[in-house]
Amino acid sequence: MKNIVITGGAGFIGSHVVRLFVNKYPEYNIINIDKLTYAGNLANLKDIENKPNYKFVKMDICNFDAFYQLMQDEKVDGIIHLAAESHVDRSIKDPFTFAHTNVMGTLSLLQAARLYWESLPEKYDKKRFYHISTDEVYGALEITAPAGIEAPFSTKATSGCYHEAYGKEFFSETTRYNPHSPYSASKASSDHFVRAYHDTYGMPTIVTNCSNNYGPYQFPEKLIPLFINNIRHRKSLPVYGKGENVRDWLYVEDHARAIDTIFHNGKIAETYNIGGFNEWKNIDLIKVLIKTVDRLLGREEGEDMNLITYVTDRLGHDMRYAIDSRKLQMELGWEPSLQFEEGIENTVKWYLENQEWIDDIISGDYEKYYEEMYDD
Ligand code: NAD
Ligand code: DAU
Repeated sequence: MKNIVITGGAGFIGSHVVRLFVNKYPEYNIINIDKLTYAGNLANLKDIENKPNYKFVKMDICNFDAFYQLMQDEKVDGIIHLAAESHVDRSIKDPFTFAHTNVMGTLSLLQAARLYWESLPEKYDKKRFYHISTDEVYGALEITAPAGIEAPFSTKATSGCYHEAYGKEFFSETTRYNPHSPYSASKASSDHFVRAYHDTYGMPTIVTNCSNNYGPYQFPEKLIPLFINNIRHRKSLPVYGKGENVRDWLYVEDHARAIDTIFHNGKIAETYNIGGFNEWKNIDLIKVLIKTVDRLLGREEGEDMNLITYVTDRLGHDMRYAIDSRKLQMELGWEPSLQFEEGIENTVKWYLENQEWIDDIISGDYEKYYEEMYDD
């Protein structure tokens, strides 16, 4: 494969995937297509924007004609699809936008790819449509253990990670879909369309479902960057409900490496779950964030605990996510590279050292930059 489209490459995870592919595969042409919504930020890619194997195209994935033309012009062999509306709270306020982008946008890409690839003499040979999805499509698990217990299986040998869990159940690749939020319902629907294109037309598709990501360049509406910034500026930390919900956190560069592994070595029509066996109750994670920010800013560790403010719970708030990623670890040999403590330390340092990146987003400067550069 030579000409690879990455959709949503100006977003959080997409920018890490673009960076990895551009640097690791100089022989590939990487075409980043992104609409540059509020969540897309070309500043995330400054370090690679002038590389000869990289191109940015401002495009809405719902624009079928434009994408079909791009498939032909760029002779696209592979698609790694990350573009989406991604924030659960926004989906509760504005579900239509989520259905439009996540469902119709994905369908539009699938149809354009199908028409182009089926027109070639070699058809689907050496082609890939890789769809990035979320663990939220599986619904929610219950918390059945009071604190982190040892999981019923050990991944220490393969991942080097200490595996704690808040219950005996995990999301596996065969867990029944049961989405609860408009966001997860839209992602579930897009997953079904991707699989339908394999089953109906024979398109070489792969779907992966990943747990919560954290790391540099995450839009500061999501828990970790929002709270780091608030702690720094001593603003209150709005903890939904009792802060008891559990999320399974993975460092974003480990997700990008998993995407690389699966794009190249994953089996067609398969699903792989991606996660680091790293469950945290929100409130415990928030306390780690407070202590880390305080320490790195030279404050007394924990002196900002009083910023914690319990607020009305998110509607339909899923209690626990926990990914079983043994299939990926055993079949393709991927494993997370970082212990959580190291990942959080890196992440907090990055946000503290890149205050300008957050300030530009909050001030809207980055939107002006797009308007000037990509006025259409
Ligand atoms: P993000 O919101 O940071 O970035 C999304 C990107 O998609 C932005 O650059 C945005 O401009 C672009 N985009 C949105 N609508 C578009 C459209 N109509 N046309 C073209 N581009 C458009 O999201 P993220 O957190 O990086 O998530 C990326 C993908 O990974 C999503 O599909 C999400 O569902 C999935 N995912 C995210 C997580 C997570 O923890 N963040 C975990 C698992 C899966
Ligand atoms: O599980 C994967 C998903 O993780 C991705 O598919 C989504 O795109 C991504 O946004 C993320 O969804 P969450 O809803 O889990 O992430 P968020 O950062 O919004 O919230 C994490 C937890 O923190 C969740 O239980 C809600 C809670 N929270 C969040 C915010 C923003 C708060 O208590 N207060 C807050 O202000």
